Amino acid sequence: MGKQARLPSLRRRLIWQLLALSAVLALSLYFAVRVGAERASEATLDAVLGAAAQAMAEELRSAEGGLVIAIAPGTFSMLAAMGEERIFYRVDVAGQTVTGYEDLPPPEMPPSALAPIFYTVPFRESDVRIAAVARSVRVDGRAAPALILLGQTREGQGAIAANLGNRAAALGLLVFFVAIPLSLFVARSLFSPIDRLAEAVGRRGPRDLRPVLHAAPAEFAPFVTALNSFIGRLRGTLSQTETFIAEAAHHIRTPLAVMRNDAELALRQSGEEGTRARLRALIRSADDAARSAGQLLDHATVLYRADQADWAAVDLADLTRALVARLAPAAEMKDIGLQLRIDGPLPAVGDVVLIEAALRNILDNAIKYSADETVIDVRAAACGTMARITVSDRGRGLDGVPHDRLKRRFRRGTNVADVAGSGLGLTIVAEAAGAMGGSFSLTPRDGGGTCAALSLPLALS
Ligand SMILES: Nc1ncnc2c1ncn2[C@@H]1O[C@H](COP(=O)(O)OP(=O)(O)OP(=O)(O)O)[C@@H](O)[C@H]1O
Ligand SMILES: [Mg+2]
Repeated sequence: MGKQARLPSLRRRLIWQLLALSAVLALSLYFAVRVGAERASEATLDAVLGAAAQAMAEELRSAEGGLVIAIAPGTFSMLAAMGEERIFYRVDVAGQTVTGYEDLPPPEMPPSALAPIFYTVPFRESDVRIAAVARSVRVDGRAAPALILLGQTREGQGAIAANLGNRAAALGLLVFFVAIPLSLFVARSLFSPIDRLAEAVGRRGPRDLRPVLHAAPAEFAPFVTALNSFIGRLRGTLSQTETFIAEAAHHIRTPLAVMRNDAELALRQSGEEGTRARLRALIRSADDAARSAGQLLDHATVLYRADQADWAAVDLADLTRALVARLAPAAEMKDIGLQLRIDGPLPAVGDVVLIEAALRNILDNAIKYSADETVIDVRAAACGTMARITVSDRGRGLDGVPHDRLKRRFRRGTNVADVAGSGLGLTIVAEAAGAMGGSFSLTPRDGGGTCAALSLPLALS
């Protein structure tokens, strides 16, 4: 089988992408707030500065012997309201500075009419925002161009903008930190149906071939459909194989029985010792083959029913009692006593055929591998959430072979060559127990013999 390549976790990718997106959003928010605030405050301040410059320009009047600029007190009070800013002005008439700061830089392009133009220049160790307004005045009866510059430092505005920027940064960080738990939550809620589906599929036993009916997100529907069709095909193939085994076993058993009868008849009629020995060997082989065919049939049935997983309520006490009664004649033939003790009612959930097959094989082994005139103890009792049936014999024991090995198919012990068997009994027991969520163990018994223990889940009342 090729190694399955693993892609990075979708959940982790989603979380990282959501976080990256939130970081981008937070940064954009920061810049948008900062730039927007700066622009808005600049536009407001410019409007006030432009209005003051226009007011100044309107105060400029020609008078006798020159010009008069009477700056109304209200003009600058507007600007003073902006905070601790310094104000500079310059008034040029016909290219000559008539009042104010001569070195206050003029605009690169002279303003055309009364509409002010704005520009920022470094002046006296700070940046000054200047509004320039042009008009014409009458000097000595002639029109002369006048240029009015009104400048204002913007230190207060810078401080306000920096403050706003800090707030915007804090807001961005807040957005980002809120996005972290939010992305975790989104990733979790998005993946929870997928997690539940994976868990439902993962929880299944290796023999569970029922279709996956768990609700799946639409994107997973093709995957689940493919899985179900695969399970369906596997189920079909398995049941075909099992049917084949069952039919083959059945077809072998009938001629074997005929052959055995003939051999027995011949044995009765034959007087020659060599032929009789060969006929006895033939009968034994036919018995072995018939037994193997029977066990194969049982095994196929167990596999099939385990796949069906068609569980129902089963009374283990009754079932154990009935099976012990059914095997009592076989025990009697060896003068073996079967002692049965059942504690309380034992309602379990499972398949009667599977439980019967398991118990029959356990009891069969105990009788088969016990010496004549011994006693086999059969106990059934509740043990926590499980019903536990133990079959303890005083037989030949396991000869130190671990039970894991004996449970394998066609595997027999090292001390049983004289007893007929196919090595499938314990495989059947273990498969049946496993299919129903139970367990089976075979351990040496104190004082000699073997103890087989079968545990099956009790029905929850
Ligand atoms: N009660 C027991 N006492 C001693 N040995 C046992 C007992 N039960 C099982 N074993 C050992 O475990 C082996 C496997 O048992 P299993 O029932 O699978 O096969 P089997 O009895 O040999 O054949 P069959 O398929 O006909 O039952 C046996 O061959 C035997 O060696
Ligand atoms: Mg057996």
